[in-house]
This record gives sequence, structure tokens and C-alpha cells, in this order.
Amino acid sequence: MEHARQVEILRELITRLDDGTTCDAGRVAVNQAEAYTCEKLARQEWETFFANHPQMIGLSGELPKPGSYLTCNDFRVPVLATRDQTGRFRAFVNACRHRGAELVNGARGEQARFTCAFHGWTYRNDGSLMGIRAAEQFGTVDKACLDLIELPSLEIHGLLFVHPREDGIINPVELLGDFGAELAAWDLAKAEYAGESVLDMPVNWKIANDTFGEVYHFNTLHRNTLAHLLHGDVATYREFGRNHRICVASKFIDTLRHQPESQWTIRDGAVVAYYLFPNIQIVLLNSMLALAKIYPDADRVGQSLTRVSHYGLPHIASQLANSDAAQKLSGDNVYAADMAKPVEFSLEASAELFLSTVEHEDYAMGVKTQAAANSGLIKEFVFGRNEPALHHFHNNYREMLGQGPLPEYRAQRAAG
Ligand code: FES
Ligand SMILES: [Fe+2]
Repeated sequence: MEHARQVEILRELITRLDDGTTCDAGRVAVNQAEAYTCEKLARQEWETFFANHPQMIGLSGELPKPGSYLTCNDFRVPVLATRDQTGRFRAFVNACRHRGAELVNGARGEQARFTCAFHGWTYRNDGSLMGIRAAEQFGTVDKACLDLIELPSLEIHGLLFVHPREDGIINPVELLGDFGAELAAWDLAKAEYAGESVLDMPVNWKIANDTFGEVYHFNTLHRNTLAHLLHGDVATYREFGRNHRICVASKFIDTLRHQPESQWTIRDGAVVAYYLFPNIQIVLLNSMLALAKIYPDADRVGQSLTRVSHYGLPHIASQLANSDAAQKLSGDNVYAADMAKPVEFSLEASAELFLSTVEHEDYAMGVKTQAAANSGLIKEFVFGRNEPALHHFHNNYREMLGQGPLPEYRAQRAAG
């Protein structure tokens, strides 16, 4: 992100801290609790946003060199993603063309060729069929017609997208619009994959998304965890088409106030969180990045799976290394930092934060929320003016499904 934009955001956060204001959706809206329990809606969502929509499967650093591969089974189409020998990112249906066996069953690794475990056909990492075992006995086939089925793929600004349909179109302008320029400035192609945690929980995928969409809960639900590091009740918010960005003030921002703006950096003064339609949350914790991919369970409306991948950002860590005062946060001391000083998150600190804050607090609360929606007795949820990202997320998918925007709270009451 350009320095001028960083300063602008930090200034806005400081002004809002002083004024006691935050980002504003301009109205209070209601969302029917059925949005989280309706099986018909869940099927529509699956078809529209997952079966027929580009999916971001990770960051470029997960395929660091020719021969790297990863597999993904989160949206019904089994995907094998590779970086071929020319360095090109490609995606295939992870199924052998002989009789459909899963070709690669590991999550990730390095391999230029893949041999099917069933009868031993071998493919190159560009998808071409290389060899048929016992070819004379098998009989004559046209090898050129039996390459792996390739899926549309796009690598852009360090993000990896795959379309789950062979004839699908990935339109970067539609996906990213002017969001791309801001993402590009982070140099996410340099992010290094460091590990993953998985949350498989009884919450609808939209409740899971909602937990990332507001800071209103920081000072209450996270009072013993995240609220030690970040200011609650204050955020900046900006939309980029169907995507958006939320910035949350780090408590270190109170120290930044006394430094010249030329020395301000957003990595010290704020956490930046990006949402990419439909199911991606990217959280930048100075030298670490966490990517949450949230998938509905295709058969159970009240269940979802969140994969949280952690990455190091070496280009940002190297800047922090020059700062003598930066405290290195580990899993043990992440909530005990002296926030008058800049901090540097380690993988362990980032993983602990996602365990203790996101899993044990946000998602645990989401499970209760889902139970309330399932009961049928809570008919609607209310989205405050201070929760604009929730309005945006729900209005986005509602528009794509031909539904009107969320009704305004007062209009709803007057009609009742
Ligand atoms: S199914 Fe792969 S070689 Fe037979
Ligand atoms: Fe939270």
C-alpha cells in the first residue's frame, strides 16, 4: 500500500479514536435468520458462488517453484494445482483419465510427474499424459486426448484463482476491479506459506464470514485476548466492488501519534483485513498474513469449513528487523505485549491468535448464533450502522441471487 494511503488511514483512525466515531453504514438493517438455515438458499448459494464462480485457492508462494503442487477438495471438484516446468500456474481435475482415480493424494509438495496409484499411468505437471503402463497390452488409444482435464486458472497480484468449471471464465476486472492495484502494492507474491489450521464447525458459512466483518465485538467478546492488541469500536472501511477493506487501529497507534507522519507505517499502526467475494478473508498482521477460506458444507446448511493458512511476509519482516524496538511475539506472549512499542508477529503468535480469538471466541460464539437461528425463535438479526461490512457482504450475495437489499430496521418495524 502506498505510504500516502497508509498515512490517510492512520490519520482517520486517530481522528475516530479522538471523536469516538467509527465507519458508518448509514442505516440499521435486518437480516432474516433464515439466511443461515434455509436449505433452498444454501443450494442456490452453492451453485452461484462456489460451483460456478472462480475460487481463490491460495497465494503464489504456495507454489514457490517449477514442480510445486497442491491439491484442494473444498468445492466438490478435486483440484490439482501445479507450477509447471515453465513456471506457469495451472489447475487440473485431480483425476486420472483412465478410470478416474485420484491422481495425487498429498496436500502439497514438489514433483514434476505424477503416477496414478491405480494402474500406473503417468502425467507431467503440465497435465500431459506421459506414459501408459503395459501400453501394448492395454491397446491403442490416442494419448493426446487423455491429458488431465484442465481448469481455467489465473495468477494475479500473488493470488491463485481456479474456476471449478472447465468452460468457466475468470475475469480479473470483474473479480478485482480497482482492488487489484491496492493488493499489488502489498507484493503478496513474496508471501511464504507457513502452515494451516482448519475449523470444521456447525456454523453457516455466512455466520463465519460475519465474524470477520466488524470490530464492535472486540471490547466484549475479545476483552481478554485481541482487545489487548487492538482498539475495538474504531475502524476504517472501504468498498471495492464486491470486495472490501477494514483497517483496525493497533494500540501502538497511540505511540505513533507522537512520531512524524513520514515515519508512520500501517504495519505498525493497524491491522488491515481484506474481504474478497465470496468467501475469502485476508488479515495482515505486519510481517504475517493469514488467509481464511470459508466453505459451506454442500449438504448441511448449518456447517462450514474454514481453512486458515498462515504466511510469512519476508519483505516486511526485513524492514522490522531494522527496527530495534520491535518486540517479537510468540504463542506464549502474544497477549502480553507492551503495546507502547511496535510488535512483530511470529507464525506461533499468528496461529495462537487464530486459535484463541477466532476459534475459541468468534467461531464458538458463531455456533451459539447458529443454534439460535436453527431454533426458529429468533427471526431476524440486526446489523448496526457500525457494521458496514456485514451490510455489504449480505447485500452483495442477495443482489447476485436476485434479492433486494437488506431491509432497513425501521421500515421493517413499521411494516410489522
Ligand atoms: S485409474 Fe489411473 S491408471 Fe487406472
Ligand atoms: Fe472476532
